[in-house]
Amino acid sequence: MKKRKIKVFDTTLRDGEQSPGASMSVTQKLEFALMLEDLGVDRIEAGFPVSSEVQFKAVEEISKKVKKSTIVSLARCVHNDIESANEAMKHAKDRMLHLFIATSPIHRKYKLGMSKKEILKRIGESIRYAKYYFDNIEFSPEDATRTERDFLYEVIEVAIANGATTINIPDTVGYSVPEEFEELIKSIIRNVPRVSEIDLSVHCHNDLGLAVANSLAAISAGATQVEVTVNGIGERAGNCSLEELVMAINIRKDYLPFKTRIKTKKLYKASKLLESLTGLIIARNKPIVGENAFLHEAGIHQHGVINNRKTYEIIRPEDIGRDPEHLVLGRHSGKHSFREKLKYYNLKLTKEQFEKAFSKFQKIADKKKEVSDDDILIIVANVLGQYPNGYRLEYFDVKTGNKIYPSATVKIKKGETKMVSSSTGNGPIEAVFNAIDSAIGLKAKLKDFVVSGVGAGRDAQGQVKVVINVEGNNYVGRGNSTDIIEASANAYINAINRYNFSMEAANLIKKQNSKKEKRVS
Ligand code: KIV
Ligand code: ZN
Repeated sequence: MKKRKIKVFDTTLRDGEQSPGASMSVTQKLEFALMLEDLGVDRIEAGFPVSSEVQFKAVEEISKKVKKSTIVSLARCVHNDIESANEAMKHAKDRMLHLFIATSPIHRKYKLGMSKKEILKRIGESIRYAKYYFDNIEFSPEDATRTERDFLYEVIEVAIANGATTINIPDTVGYSVPEEFEELIKSIIRNVPRVSEIDLSVHCHNDLGLAVANSLAAISAGATQVEVTVNGIGERAGNCSLEELVMAINIRKDYLPFKTRIKTKKLYKASKLLESLTGLIIARNKPIVGENAFLHEAGIHQHGVINNRKTYEIIRPEDIGRDPEHLVLGRHSGKHSFREKLKYYNLKLTKEQFEKAFSKFQKIADKKKEVSDDDILIIVANVLGQYPNGYRLEYFDVKTGNKIYPSATVKIKKGETKMVSSSTGNGPIEAVFNAIDSAIGLKAKLKDFVVSGVGAGRDAQGQVKVVINVEGNNYVGRGNSTDIIEASANAYINAINRYNFSMEAANLIKKQNSKKEKRVS
């Protein structure tokens, strides 16, 4: 089946950044824009330059550095906004202006105080003015889905006649349902024949949880561009999620004959980067990128997945750049899953050792909801007659401020051995991680770092999750504390311990096996 190309217009840095708690600095925005470019986004809406100095500067910096995606700036139908966007994007290799004005009766009456005639006049004038600076102009009739149909067609006709090259149909308040939205797009195509000369875009909000479904319906009806945000962040309940939309197209090729330029293997990285830049932590059960999206707890599911992942997985974690998640063991897990977990850590036990370890596991599983990999590694080391001897943070001291280079000293204990070391870093947490590396004598690559809060109020605990990479394998560590630096240090040490546990346990088993072989011979 021939696939139709769909342009991906990402507005994480504009509409997404408008959501509470998502604001980013200029440097953070630039870092994320480079991620979007790498991901293969066609158009990056970098900001609303006239709205603040930070917005202006961010659009300017992004325009200087991003070369493979078109840079877009938002502007009201006002000369000053258009000039500001022109100035902010003057270094862009490829650029587009995004002009908007509300068209629905409620916005006309209560927000703009303008008649239909005045709005049509303003649209024509603004696009003509913007044409002086820009070849590419996207025009959005804000609240399009609650605008009278005939007026909406007229608005679109005027915008195209005056030089708009993309028309975007926003479902500003997330009011539409898929069938209705599909019909709206079809009727625009039927009633405004000139839309075939331009890109027809959609921009769906998620107030009813229908943003992805509405966007897919619109593409099926003939839309050629979708506006999305990473992790679905955006005003109120957010916008259409980039990763959900792209993976729906990808997985259901049979039903959705479309293609995008998105490199799906970078989706997870983009999601995690946004989480760490904004601190907006996504729900564990969020499709595609959530913590639980590839975890299987129920025994029957685990058994099925071990035999053939397709029994309960429609997406391969590797396809979005995630490590194939191993199983979370709990009360419902049987011997099959336990054996699989040992295999994952390359732990080969004799039959007798396995039975012992499994019965210890069951006892813990009865008490705990989730048996962590650390628990399992400890069980194994226990069965083999040796307790794993992990590193422990005994003391740390950090000096930081806005006028000094952050430095840290750590004291770490392993059994009776004490290790002390100091280091510097770009921030206090990096300084602590560097000091830990130097004390232990291990260089781990930090792959992921996520901070979240547990509880509310000033005494809330910081919860840190880190992923480190040692010798090509990833190890996850977690730490909690009311002090975020201590939580980070503990998470980092926890990940290192995990690496060590698996190495030690594997070595122990090797030794035991070779002893046995000698005895036999
Ligand atoms: O939701 C909306 O209507 C918008 C417009 C500016 C396109 O974000
Ligand atoms: Zn919006």
